[in-house]
Amino acid sequence: MARTALVTGGSRGIGAAISQALKAQGCNVAATYAGNDEAAAKFTDETGIKTYKWNVGSYEESAAGIAKVEEEMGPIDIVVANAGITRDAPFHKMTPQQWQEVIDTNLTGVFNTVHPVWPGMRERKFGRVIVISSINGQKGQFAQVNYAATKAGDLGIVKSLAQEGARAGITANAVCPGYIATEMVMAVPEKVRESIIAQIPAGRLGEPEEIARCVAFLASDESGFINGSTISANGAQFFV
Ligand code: CAA
Repeated sequence: MARTALVTGGSRGIGAAISQALKAQGCNVAATYAGNDEAAAKFTDETGIKTYKWNVGSYEESAAGIAKVEEEMGPIDIVVANAGITRDAPFHKMTPQQWQEVIDTNLTGVFNTVHPVWPGMRERKFGRVIVISSINGQKGQFAQVNYAATKAGDLGIVKSLAQEGARAGITANAVCPGYIATEMVMAVPEKVRESIIAQIPAGRLGEPEEIARCVAFLASDESGFINGSTISANGAQFFV
């Protein structure tokens, strides 16, 4: 039976690759996006994957959006909390607003995405929760006190959910991408980006599909004993 998967931030970057990998694996996929209608429409045209617009930082919007997806596509078996933003600044320049926006989207957004689907997963005795964390949640990063805090928080979320879900057939795992060739990384000043690439033993940025492959593996029915884990995919830049 085809599984239904929800991917937040699933129409661009790493999320778009995840949506497509899950579809290729036989899932019915719903992808969310926050604001870029044009990119979402293009993504649906090209892939046939339906997109839904809501702000993951709002519990009400998330719960209503998820209810609509479940009405149209059936109960959600796989949830990928991928939506994330950066508001980089050295700490002495970071504003409370830059802190709060990143916390709302990257951390509270995970709660808002998983919490509404959790009771159904418990009832049906099956679920796959995958949270996209980051190498920078593992090692910290200059100018990313806000982002690193959320990505480290993701690891606490999955380790706790794993313990709560295990008896109900639910797994919760994290993927920590390194620097991947997406708009987010391309927005880093070129000189800084070059110095980052110089620190990656693989000598290159990763591709979104290389992260999607980890997610598809964790999402499969056969991955049921992998629970509370973190898969790092960073070209050997950092080891935990
Ligand atoms: N380590 C040490 N020092 C650094 C540094 C680093 N990684 N990056 C910058 N600096 C230094 C600069 O050399 C500069 O020093 P000087 O003042 O002595 O010249 C200082 O810090 C920067 O000060 P500025 O006042 O110029 O900083 P700014 O307010 O203009 O901010 C910045 C610049 C936002 C920090 C910019 O450099 C930047 O975007 N850096 C990249 C941060 C980064 O890696 N973000 C990751 C984005 S990708 C992502 O997040 C995806 C993922 O999960 C991996």
